[in-house]
Amino acid sequence: MVRNTYTSVVTIERYIIEQERLHPQATGALSGILQDLALAAKMIASKVRLAGLADVLGEHGSENVQGETQQKLDVISNDIIVKAMDHGGRLCAMASEEEEGIIPIPEKFKRGSYVLLFDPLDGSSNIDVNVPVGTIFSVLRRQSKGNGVGTLDDMLQPGYKQVAAGYVIYGSSTMMVYTTGQGAHGFTLDPSIGEFLLSHPGIRTPEASRYLSVNEAYEQHWEPNVKALVRRYRGMDGTREALNVRYVGSLVADFHRNLLGGGVFVYPANAKNTSGKLRLLYECNPLAFICEQAGGAASDGQQRILDIQPTQLHQRSPLFIGSKAEVTTATEMLASS
Ligand code: AHG
Ligand code: MN
Ligand code: MN
Repeated sequence: MVRNTYTSVVTIERYIIEQERLHPQATGALSGILQDLALAAKMIASKVRLAGLADVLGEHGSENVQGETQQKLDVISNDIIVKAMDHGGRLCAMASEEEEGIIPIPEKFKRGSYVLLFDPLDGSSNIDVNVPVGTIFSVLRRQSKGNGVGTLDDMLQPGYKQVAAGYVIYGSSTMMVYTTGQGAHGFTLDPSIGEFLLSHPGIRTPEASRYLSVNEAYEQHWEPNVKALVRRYRGMDGTREALNVRYVGSLVADFHRNLLGGGVFVYPANAKNTSGKLRLLYECNPLAFICEQAGGAASDGQQRILDIQPTQLHQRSPLFIGSKAEVTTATEMLASS
């Protein structure tokens, strides 16, 4: 007898609507944004999955505003998101890691009261070697008046103002994880029906840590207290058991493994990246929101990531994110700096 494996199927669309119904005053705009992002994620996944077969590998032959060489998939993913999101009537502007300035919603489209910030393809140096990559997004409510194009100030809001945030990981399976402040929820793409299905409701990051994610190549450029912190995480100062070091070089992949398995990801400032490498608005903030919703924490070493008042669109921040106890260890050992 063939068992119907879709007896309790909950698609991401259904889950988003059910969550929206918990808020009588909701207009449905945020639900629409999340559903459009799920479509964009499926379109990017289909490109990432084809990789070498679809002429999407390698460099695009240009640099982004960060001075980083753009991979073809960086540009393709960026275009997919812009075109999937610009006509829904819920946004008044967007901002991307891959574009210097604000991406306005064209005149021909209705504008809404939200702004979207995103890293279209995170970990892009890993694409050509088939290591998981991701997409990261953050949604804020516009602060500027009227219904014109959103402004820079609409983007430069502290992370605690986010109304939604999430990421997609194109790994051994494609998963989308998002929060609207009512917990963090994970959906796995079933490519045979082209739907994201609820697989991880109410994610809670384990209290006990297993993993440490850090690029130790920068050790020589760290401050002494950062060196001491990483030595502690590695069980080398006699105060604790060593964490397993796992680092793939895609923030989304390292973050997701630690979120589900328990652990801490650290990208400190160093002599070469004096503010750290990761971007506050579309890497640190959205993952910090997800992490806190799952019972974890995120700091820049001095303060909570979500409390940082941004001053520039592409500003960077040191990042210590994961299980609460490990982030507390970091802030205690770095506060003295
Ligand atoms: P992106 O590909 O969006 O530029 O992000 C790359 C980031 C992040 O994904 C990863 O954690 C970090 O770069 C790795 O940096 P290092 O190679 O310096 O360790
Ligand atoms: Mn990134
Ligand atoms: Mn990127």
